[in-house]
Amino acid sequence: MISWKKHYKKGLVAIMLLLSTGASVYAQGDAKKGEELFNANCTACHALDKQMVGPALGGVVDRLKTEQNLDTDWLHKWIKDNASLRASGDKYANEVYEKFNKTEMLPFPNLTDQDIDDILEYTTNPPAPAPAATADGAGASDQNSAAMLEAAQAQKTNSTIILVSLIAICGLLVWLLLKLRQLVKLQQTEELAGLNTSRSVSFGALYEKYSYVGKALLGLLALFAFYGIWNWLMWIGVYKGYKPEQPIYFSHKIHAGENKIDCQLCHSSAKYGKVSEIPSMNVCMNCHRNISEYNGSYMEPGKDKAFYDAEIQKIYAATGWDPATQQYTGKTQPVEWVRIHNMPDFVYFNHAQHVVAGEQAIISSHNKKNPDNKIDVVCKACHGAVDTMNVVQMANDFTMGWCIDCHRTTEVDMNNSYNKEYFQSLHDKLKKQYPKKEGKITVDAIGGLECGKCHY
Ligand code: HEC
Ligand code: HEC
Ligand code: HEC
Ligand code: HEC
Ligand code: HEC
Ligand code: HEC
Repeated sequence: MISWKKHYKKGLVAIMLLLSTGASVYAQGDAKKGEELFNANCTACHALDKQMVGPALGGVVDRLKTEQNLDTDWLHKWIKDNASLRASGDKYANEVYEKFNKTEMLPFPNLTDQDIDDILEYTTNPPAPAPAATADGAGASDQNSAAMLEAAQAQKTNSTIILVSLIAICGLLVWLLLKLRQLVKLQQTEELAGLNTSRSVSFGALYEKYSYVGKALLGLLALFAFYGIWNWLMWIGVYKGYKPEQPIYFSHKIHAGENKIDCQLCHSSAKYGKVSEIPSMNVCMNCHRNISEYNGSYMEPGKDKAFYDAEIQKIYAATGWDPATQQYTGKTQPVEWVRIHNMPDFVYFNHAQHVVAGEQAIISSHNKKNPDNKIDVVCKACHGAVDTMNVVQMANDFTMGWCIDCHRTTEVDMNNSYNKEYFQSLHDKLKKQYPKKEGKITVDAIGGLECGKCHY
């Protein structure tokens, strides 16, 4: 009897254990968490519903099960370290690698099994987009188009001002010309004694008669001209809204917006140094070797699929890629992008300082609504909503006042590893100098207003 009880208990424990392990095997994970992980790690190369750099991942678990008889175990191995899986001689791993022209997928050793289950759950049952989110998005884009309208309006008034001043200057020139002609004529009359007398006299008389009107007009013209020149001088060096035509119609809205490609996938040097470089054509080819035409649902008004397809062909012309033979011909022609942002030579601006050391500070001051959303926020704080722009334009005026404003108002992140490592003693001093309740330590407190920090 006693022993039965013992066994019964053991049995119960065993059943519980079985159930619980069973649960963790079959609980497919959390689609919501999976979505976040997918957006952060995979969207640079994968979408659910279409092929990008890698295959479409919607329903990948079922597809691999039915087509290749591979289970989630295989997927875990592949996602963690696809290179080792290939090296181990796995048949399908090598097949799919060949199929995608030996494009390397990144390894993700940092993802836990649970993370991967979450991602796979997301690819199997993606949650329907929340209506609230769409409403929010629409609000944001409304705001954005309002801002763009404003910029366009400002540009319009500016060109009107310039036009009016030009007309004024023209008027002045014509007046001067007439005046000169008259002088010359007067001289002629003196020298040629009377030949032109009648005409010059009548002109002189006319001038006498209407000189008040003339002078009043002249005064008005001069005022206009002065106003125009003043405005023009104030705008020298400020190119807010500047958006030149580029050799390839590359749309940030389609890449960073519609396809959610991370800014730093292309502008990868932003976190390592001063300059955030324009990606080389090889970077484009990582994706466009496979994406040779545009099949997106988004179309900018006035553009169509044929237009986008032709623009993609320009990448092939530039890199000498022959899509028919899938080979490089060796005939390349450089693409000359027109530079948009360009500080004067006497200014020192460093991207890494802002994108790495200043990242947290800028994110928390510019992203109060959604502090967990880190993706691309840093860039947008200065460059605006580039992911909604078909053609990049300068979103701020990039003047000294603009730099200083942000340095005065942005609180430094004293706890980031960079500041801890390099400025520990300074920060300890500052913390004492500016006790918490007294106020925040903004960038100006660590030298962000010193002329020498920004000027050579
Ligand atoms: C740098 C680009 C890149 C990133 C980032 C990336 N992948 Fe991939 N992935 C690929 C490519 C390319 C392939 C096709 C196989 C190959 O060429 O190695 C692939 C293949 C796969 C496959 C096999 C699909 C099939 O249909 O056979 C899975 C599953 C997969 N990726 C999952 C992921 C997940 C999950 C993430 C994010 C955690 C991710 N990938 C991130 C490029 C990428
Ligand atoms: C797929 C690659 C790609 C991605 C992703 C991308 N960019 Fe770009 N970016 C480019 C190319 C190519 C240019 C040059 C052509 C142009 O100006 O449109 C450029 C130009 C720019 C410029 C103007 C540079 C100048 O000349 O002053 C800024 C600013 C910029 N990108 C910011 C961003 C931000 C912010 C993001 C993320 C929201 C982003 N980019 C995502 C490829 C990319
Ligand atoms: C990470 C992948 C990726 C990279 C890198 C990439 N593209 Fe694209 N590109 C796409 C996707 C996705 C589309 C949309 C395809 C679709 O929806 O059918 C696209 C569309 C385009 C189009 C047509 C739409 C438009 O923007 O006018 C052009 C042109 C283009 N890309 C040029 C470039 C250039 C130039 C580069 C390099 C600076 C580049 N792409 C880099 C993924 C990429
Ligand atoms: C603190 C403001 C700030 C932040 C944050 C910032 N930028 Fe910039 N960016 C600038 C300024 C200022 C310039 C002009 C630099 C120059 O002309 O020397 C610039 C120029 C650029 C250029 C043109 C090439 C160059 O370096 O001159 C690109 C591309 C660019 N930024 C992309 C990015 C991306 C991508 C991010 C996010 C990773 C980013 N920027 C974050 C201020 C910023
Ligand atoms: C969006 C806000 C923002 C804008 C705009 C901005 N900065 Fe900064 N800047 C920061 C932050 C935050 C830091 C502090 C980074 C850190 O923690 O070290 C910083 C630090 C600096 C530093 C280092 C200061 C020091 O003492 O270590 C320099 C130099 C600098 N910025 C130059 C510029 C220039 C030049 C511009 C304008 C072209 C500019 N910044 C625009 C936010 C901004
Ligand atoms: C946070 C960075 C920063 C600091 C600090 C800073 N400047 Fe500047 N300064 C700039 C930038 C950026 C420009 C270029 C503005 C432009 O091109 O419109 C500039 C331009 C100038 C100009 C040229 C005139 C003009 O408006 O274009 C002078 C002169 C100047 N700064 C002097 C100073 C002096 C003096 C100090 C110290 C009191 C100082 N700056 C501190 C960023 C800074």
